[in-house]
Amino acid sequence: MISTVRGVHDILNQDTPTWQYLEATARRVFAQYGYGEIRTPIFEKSELFARAVGATSDIVEKEMYTFADRGGDSLSLRPEGTASVVRAFINNSMHRTLPWRVYYMGPMFRYERPQKGRQRQFHQIGCELFGPQGPLADAEVMAMVMAFFAEAGVVGNLVLEINSLGCGECRGPYREKLLTFLKANQETLCENCLNRMERNPLRVLDCKKATCGEVAKAAPHMPDHLCGVCSEHFAGLKSHLTILEQPFVHNPLMVRGLDYYNRTAFEVTTDALGAQNAVAAGGRYDGLVAEMGGQSTPAIGFAMGLERLVLLLQQNRVVVPTVTVYLVAVGDGADGAGLYLAEQLRRAGLKVEMNLNQGSMKSQMKRAGRSEAPITAIIGESEVGTKSVVIKNMVNGEQETVAIAGAVDFVNSLIENIKRMDHGADR
Ligand code: HAM
Repeated sequence: MISTVRGVHDILNQDTPTWQYLEATARRVFAQYGYGEIRTPIFEKSELFARAVGATSDIVEKEMYTFADRGGDSLSLRPEGTASVVRAFINNSMHRTLPWRVYYMGPMFRYERPQKGRQRQFHQIGCELFGPQGPLADAEVMAMVMAFFAEAGVVGNLVLEINSLGCGECRGPYREKLLTFLKANQETLCENCLNRMERNPLRVLDCKKATCGEVAKAAPHMPDHLCGVCSEHFAGLKSHLTILEQPFVHNPLMVRGLDYYNRTAFEVTTDALGAQNAVAAGGRYDGLVAEMGGQSTPAIGFAMGLERLVLLLQQNRVVVPTVTVYLVAVGDGADGAGLYLAEQLRRAGLKVEMNLNQGSMKSQMKRAGRSEAPITAIIGESEVGTKSVVIKNMVNGEQETVAIAGAVDFVNSLIENIKRMDHGADR
């Protein structure tokens, strides 16, 4: 038997409704903010990621799926979406039509150690906004991420963490200060941090090892060393978030694993997923377009991990049912009446599953429960005689007998009631 590759999973039909629900919610919310969808290739020239994400980043150094094609070109499966969107921005001269707002969704690939919430093939939904330079854009992007979580019903003590990583002006001098401090404390640092200290001292700040964490806490922090412009930008962002009544935490130790960021960086974290606690992450990358050969254009974006969002929904028992009505038919003549009613309900646009294996009332009701459908329609022998059907609200257990002729209208109004009772019912 051949299994899937380690860290790579099938998404089965019972789970896809949750995925589609999250994707549909993202499309709806992002459209409200003026974003349109972009679809970029799954693989690109390796050089694109080396230049955009950073040749010394963990992603490019250790995690890319890179191969030579038959013509000898080095290609890589995309480890993230921003590099391709920037390439598309430049290739299509989108600087002529700023602001440019796009979103994307799809698989990404990183050779990481698989664990809960971390796969080698995973899925992101991301957004990129090109053009605006000020903190208003940062605040709008964060408001959109949080609106998405609220609209999708994703809970799990979500915290919006923000930081400023400075710019070309202030990051260099800060980096030197940090490096001096780290060198003075190097006997306390782990092997990995010692190795990358010279190349990328900022990454030491988010090392998960407790001893490095202590050093990080005592180290000089970027926000205390920002230049005037960066400092004003960060203050502007905080004030806009306050106006939006959007709670946030300033985490001065947050650095990002991709090299293209400047000024604003942010993450949305949860305490419900263990070590892989970031459900969304992003920031500004004002220098990247120019660095990649385009006309200098400020930009900001973020991406969220879909697997992690699905886990959060499942943990909170937010189920997205495949069907709305589960139809149970037991006894003489009941299957014919059931078949007829199921078709009437489908013609009215409802998702209906009829039990096709017959079986006892008890076993069919068990299946109805397992289907997670919010409504069960039950036809037994007595209902056949009276041309009626029992409609059961599976959310509160109440049931009522109604005429088959009025069943579609009754079910439709019940769905509206359930939606009011439990916002999740129409998912
Ligand atoms: P990132 O922090 O590398 O940023 O990934 C964003 C999100 O993707 C993470 O917060 C996490 O939810 C999810 N994710 C990342 N790696 C994995 C994995 N191995 N398994 C499951 N989920 C994962 C970026 O990718 C940037 N391109 C975001 C961005 C867009 N910045 C600006 N624009």
